[in-house]
Amino acid sequence: MIDVVETDSGRQLFFLSTAGATLVVLVGDRRHVFVPYWGPRLDPCDVSYLVDDVPRASYLADADGAKDYKLEQLPQLYPSFGYTDLREPAFLLRQSNGSRTSDLKFESYRIAERKARLEGLPTVLDPSGAPAIEIILRDEVAGTRVVVTFGVFEEQNALTESVRIENVGEEPIVIEKISSSCVDLHRCDLDMIHLAGAWSREFGIVRRPVVQGTQSVGSARGTSGHGQNPFVALAARDADERHGEVYAMSFVYSGNFLAQADRDMHENVRLQMGINPFDFSWTLGPGETFQAPEVALVFSERGLDGMSQAFHALYRSCLMPSRFASAERPVLLNCWEACYFDYTREDLERIADGASQIGAELFVLDDGWFGRRNDSTSSVGDWVPNRQKIGGTIEDLAKSVEKRGLAFGLWFEPEAVSRDSDLFRAHPDWAIQAPGRVITTSRDEYLLDLSNPAVCDYLVDTLSEILSNAPIAYVKWDMNRNVTNAGSEFLPSWRQQEQAHRCVLGLYRVLETLVGRFPSVLFEGCAGGGGRCDPGMLAYMPQVWISDDTDALERLKVQYGASLVYPSIALGCHISDVPNHQTHRSESLRTRAIVAGWGNLGLEFDPARLGREGAEAVAREVDAYRRIRATVQLGKLHRLMGLDRGNEYAWMHVGEDGSNIVVCYVCQRMTPNSVSHRIRLSHLEPAARYRVNGCDRTYSGAELMNVGLSAGKIREDAYALRWVIDRVG
Ligand code: DGJ
Repeated sequence: MIDVVETDSGRQLFFLSTAGATLVVLVGDRRHVFVPYWGPRLDPCDVSYLVDDVPRASYLADADGAKDYKLEQLPQLYPSFGYTDLREPAFLLRQSNGSRTSDLKFESYRIAERKARLEGLPTVLDPSGAPAIEIILRDEVAGTRVVVTFGVFEEQNALTESVRIENVGEEPIVIEKISSSCVDLHRCDLDMIHLAGAWSREFGIVRRPVVQGTQSVGSARGTSGHGQNPFVALAARDADERHGEVYAMSFVYSGNFLAQADRDMHENVRLQMGINPFDFSWTLGPGETFQAPEVALVFSERGLDGMSQAFHALYRSCLMPSRFASAERPVLLNCWEACYFDYTREDLERIADGASQIGAELFVLDDGWFGRRNDSTSSVGDWVPNRQKIGGTIEDLAKSVEKRGLAFGLWFEPEAVSRDSDLFRAHPDWAIQAPGRVITTSRDEYLLDLSNPAVCDYLVDTLSEILSNAPIAYVKWDMNRNVTNAGSEFLPSWRQQEQAHRCVLGLYRVLETLVGRFPSVLFEGCAGGGGRCDPGMLAYMPQVWISDDTDALERLKVQYGASLVYPSIALGCHISDVPNHQTHRSESLRTRAIVAGWGNLGLEFDPARLGREGAEAVAREVDAYRRIRATVQLGKLHRLMGLDRGNEYAWMHVGEDGSNIVVCYVCQRMTPNSVSHRIRLSHLEPAARYRVNGCDRTYSGAELMNVGLSAGKIREDAYALRWVIDRVG
């Protein structure tokens, strides 16, 4: 809901309210624009005193020649560089006379009943319509207009914010920094929470106090990266899963990003997020505009659970392709860890047979089916099936898989090109490269320069042909390296710093076209596991392979961290072989199944290796998962234990109407003479009756929440339990 308030003194305020939060925008007396309030929901009132009441510090310059008008201390909507606020600005523009100073003043505002799509960018859009407000700011001297747009998603309890810069002057300007959101908080008793890791151990939760100075997370790798996810939360020191105030930002973007919190000299914190300004610039000619991607903003007064509920609801109902957001996903078997590059048609058919016998619904042919690819050294880019290896065309293979009662899925790595490939030999200039230097390889491949429209067209045409000629129900879209020695043969020298962002825009154009042409294909994003798991990709690919690590204990931590932002239905989680291929550990099938049952279940082994009893046991786990699938995929996730990164983890999914509940528990290490803790549930109806695991005895919701379930005696390392609970009255 957007309310416009005019105060008696003629000031204008905009109240942007969602289910549990309000953000207020204020036009000040001197037409600077502020955000005096972001917090629990507030009915419209005159809070303009919040800007007047700030005790002014010494030694700061007065803006506009007005005594004690200290912009540096005021919570500005979109702070600029070079005037009187010397904190980190939200944007930086270089004008043709060399000046970098800007000073934005209010020009006008516009309210739209329905938020519009951002051209060329993934956009959060409510199918039933969410309002938006544009705050239009102007720098008269530089000849620039800056439009800050908020989308208001009331039901999901989230806002979106994005920024557009228009060059309305006569001369070109160069954008050197453009944050998509910047919020000043008049408090500093906060912890910064973010997600950090590396390949195979993505999404570790990091929590650290916000101290004076800058603390940031980001990526300059070309993608959002394995290292740090484009998410940051500032949480009150006492905030936990259920309690406390949390301010969070999540970037709907898949390239280089920067999120940073600055605590200043006067104990205020500025939080901002946007395209990473490092090695970025964008030249904007007269009349041109630049649209930055959007940030989702969540304020929760119900701790991290409240924050996650908002992100999950927003991304599920307003970002993912809608046809997948509320449809149950198939149980897939991916053949990667079953055979890697080494297979024949017979092997694939044997694996598909086994897959259908244990209850899988989709068979995925991973890497190695094209060109001369029998290891990672060649052929990426040559998307021509190796007929000899796969025993015919993709269509033949897909049909033979379908005869076994399974849908067929296929792996691609479209953005890369092998050094040893026909594509690279034909178009060496299509690879990202710095002039005069050796093109650097990673996994024997280069990356394609998607800032070049011809490259994007080639990808669209090549993939369209394959997807049109065979019954392909699923695509695993992989991407296995970072951008190094960046440079484009296509772009002129003065646009080289635009390449990273132009590549992301090129990728979005390719995806938009393919997803539009093949709406029934389920795309799963992958970048060597979780190297590009971000909301930008979710807009096209409703499922992500969040880590190459399939070891249950490692996955537990990865999934736990990912769940801060991403809903369970977005997470691909597989039961793999033992000993595990990444950690060489062996966990029981039960534990592997319970952990993989957190999200969209997949299998990643050769069923023939299981033996009859093993296959029957897996089939029972798949069957058990299918019975809870709707609850897990379409319900709400609540984390119960594990935020302390201790020995025990527990989580629950509550089905859409609240009557089906699945609770899971894992104890990582058994220690002698220790006891497990009771698992107290949440989000049940206190007075309702619940039946646990089909037993006769029922419990009230209050009992389950206040007393909890017992994990009993821990019997082994990686000890896991699952309870299926039904509301019976
Ligand atoms: C990296 C992915 O993360 C794996 O799952 C697999 O698809 C390989 N690439 C194939 O090369």
